[in-house]
Amino acid sequence: MIYFDNAATTYPKPESVYQAVNRCMRDYCANPGRSGHKLSMEAGRRVLETRELLAELFGAKKSENIIFTLNATDALNTAIKGVVKEGDHIITTSMEHNSVLRPLKQLENLGVETTIIKCNMLGELNLIDLQTSIKENTRVIITTHASNVTGVLMPIKEIGEIAKQNKLLYIIDSAQTAGTYKIDVSDINVDILTFTGHKGLMGPQGVGGFYVKEGVNLRQLREGGTGSMSESLMQPEMLPDKYESGTPNTPGIAGLAAGIKFIKEIGIDKIRGHEEEITSYFLKQVSEIDDIIIYGPNDIKKQAPVVSLNIKNRASSEVSFLLDNQYDIATRPGLHCAPLAHQTIGSGQQGAVRFSFGYFNTWDEIDKAIIALKSIAKEECF
Ligand code: ALA
Repeated sequence: MIYFDNAATTYPKPESVYQAVNRCMRDYCANPGRSGHKLSMEAGRRVLETRELLAELFGAKKSENIIFTLNATDALNTAIKGVVKEGDHIITTSMEHNSVLRPLKQLENLGVETTIIKCNMLGELNLIDLQTSIKENTRVIITTHASNVTGVLMPIKEIGEIAKQNKLLYIIDSAQTAGTYKIDVSDINVDILTFTGHKGLMGPQGVGGFYVKEGVNLRQLREGGTGSMSESLMQPEMLPDKYESGTPNTPGIAGLAAGIKFIKEIGIDKIRGHEEEITSYFLKQVSEIDDIIIYGPNDIKKQAPVVSLNIKNRASSEVSFLLDNQYDIATRPGLHCAPLAHQTIGSGQQGAVRFSFGYFNTWDEIDKAIIALKSIAKEECF
């Protein structure tokens, strides 16, 4: 199987990730931070180690500002719902995933106002549109770092500056970039950076999180046991406990540490370099095939290694099915949980076939995909 669905989850994972999950489950999978016995202490140390690795990766000064969640959606729900109140205004873009858009729509029922800025046909945001959308009651800007549909990169540094000048909070969704792009929270004006563990960070599914800037006060979404201040019936205010109620996904967190160590060992630039090279080659070859429509910038310096395309008006699900069934190539068709992004780029009805590349993809695999697409493009619709 040739796997080109890395924007959904990376596969395979580094061998060390499988081993770390297995070792955790077998050797020390007690409840971290809940007891003083050796196994619980070991589990606690491993959770802390992962938190520290993430803090280092994102340039956060203190590891307590890294919070673990179930996934990026969970992190985004906490970030979005934790900062606004009735009457506030939030600005976002039409390239967002439903993990941003659905919480915002839900908040509209509670009296929160939203503006969704329409990006251009390539998915690019016009910063003037952002500036002119700011109103007296605007409190938050939230954008993705890279679209999961076209890979288009948002100018997060410039957006951060606009947020700072206007005293707004800035939330970045790095689901498609954490682990493959350098993101330094000391260099970008970001208040909350949400991430997932199972994509670029190469960890298992079921663990994600967010960085929250010191001083940003976020309401927690849930209350419960934290293993700390158990005498109090009130949720502790200290970080990370405030946002981490209940037993964490210790095996997932242990696997995530191995994923981050793998990235450190190989080097983030080398990982991105490989992904950029194969994506660029794919874009060039595919652009030359008659009847193929490529969405997005078609320029690897402006997009993450994600390419969405269609073959004329053929159903994206049919093309993806043929790739899977006849060529053993895994892609994702349809709307990718980002309906407004598809409306923006003109594929709102058809959806698109998404190829998303990862560090383990080879040149040979890309060549096979190009041959398969050429062959499918030649076939008549059926
Ligand atoms: N958000 C993931 C994707 O884009 C699941 O496929």
